[in-house]
Amino acid sequence: MKFDIISIFPDFFQSPLACGIVRIAQEKGIIEVHVIDPRSCAPDSKVDDYQFGGGAGMVMKPEPLLRSIRKTVGKNSRLIALTPRGIPFNQNMAKALSSEDHIVIVCGRYKGIDERVITLCKPEEISIGDYVLSGGEAAAFVLIEAITRLLPGALGNRDSAESDSFTTPLLEAPRYTRPNSYRRHTVPAVLRNGNHAHIARYRRKMAIEQTLERRPDLLPYETFTMQDLNILLEVMNGKNSRHKTR
Ligand code: ADE
Repeated sequence: MKFDIISIFPDFFQSPLACGIVRIAQEKGIIEVHVIDPRSCAPDSKVDDYQFGGGAGMVMKPEPLLRSIRKTVGKNSRLIALTPRGIPFNQNMAKALSSEDHIVIVCGRYKGIDERVITLCKPEEISIGDYVLSGGEAAAFVLIEAITRLLPGALGNRDSAESDSFTTPLLEAPRYTRPNSYRRHTVPAVLRNGNHAHIARYRRKMAIEQTLERRPDLLPYETFTMQDLNILLEVMNGKNSRHKTR
């Protein structure tokens, strides 16, 4: 998969692209990432200007962005513009985008980009959350990492992507590593007794409990099994399973 990022801050991406699975995915040839600076498409290197109608903050000029987009977008590209007014990004969108061959991401800066870029190019406008960043660069990296980790071969252990929160619609159960006892807190015994059925039930229960507590809107009632419904009843009846052994 190829990503082209259109950003006036190409340096922003140096460090995140050089770390973790995104670096490894590039080394393995699973992804390729290029950053295009719209200044290189601006005859006078000027990429922003004052807003018509007045108001604080500059707006990104249309011509350098349009030229950058034309240089990168092909027949089979998905064009995305990052903006707080966009559709909220989620795991399903990451999954859908992971089957694309080429994604072009436009990063806005300042007060945003001239609306005619949106009118003329019709990008998908995506937001990474209900808060305002100073530009789309951090959001672009969020998309790239969320998509890349879903690509075959990107993660050492594919299972770890499949059990992630949001891949399954439940939040993840808490995880523990050694030592067994840490500052007088011990790992739940069920995780150490080697009974895989008990471990699976315990984790399912913890996942349902955490989701009920923190994100009840995510609970996938329609796909619940009888066992899930029993677990849900146990949880709602206040049997706190976190410190139980079984
Ligand atoms: N640019 C500024 N804020 C943003 C957000 N929340 N999501 C995507 N792009 C942005």
